[in-house]
Amino acid sequence: MKKADIDKILKKHDYKKSSLISILQDIQEVNRWLPPEILKQVSEKMNIPLIDVYSLTTFYKSFYLKPRGKHIITVCSGTACHVRGGPRILNEIKSQLNIDVDETTPDKNFSLETVRCLGACALGPLMVVDKKYYGQMNPKKVVSTIKKFSKKK
Ligand code: FES
Repeated sequence: MKKADIDKILKKHDYKKSSLISILQDIQEVNRWLPPEILKQVSEKMNIPLIDVYSLTTFYKSFYLKPRGKHIITVCSGTACHVRGGPRILNEIKSQLNIDVDETTPDKNFSLETVRCLGACALGPLMVVDKKYYGQMNPKKVVSTIKKFSKKK
């Protein structure tokens, strides 16, 4: 993300300290995560101590301080999905992408995450890619879904 793009977001929010959360959300929306150099720029431009910016980003779970891939795969680890084969789905994804949970592929195309329950237990086992739900998953469907998103670079 270019410095000019960050400036644009800061300007949009009038550099208001009370808008820091919204500013960081807007930056993350574009950049997918918040690298140290961006947090430093925000801190300097807004005249907020860097430690305060970090405190906020670590307090809210919705901020990501580690690189995230272009496509986010979320696997439900809730009970209903678990008993219907969730662990098999997760293992298949791990082996297809060769990464663990909370990791990103070296080409930055995929990140893998888990969540407790996605609220659609009847569809389990469930995985979500870029906010789209894929229900009644099996290892074969995992392979084809990942293939589909591998093409979408
Ligand atoms: S347990 Fe997976 S959606 Fe509820």
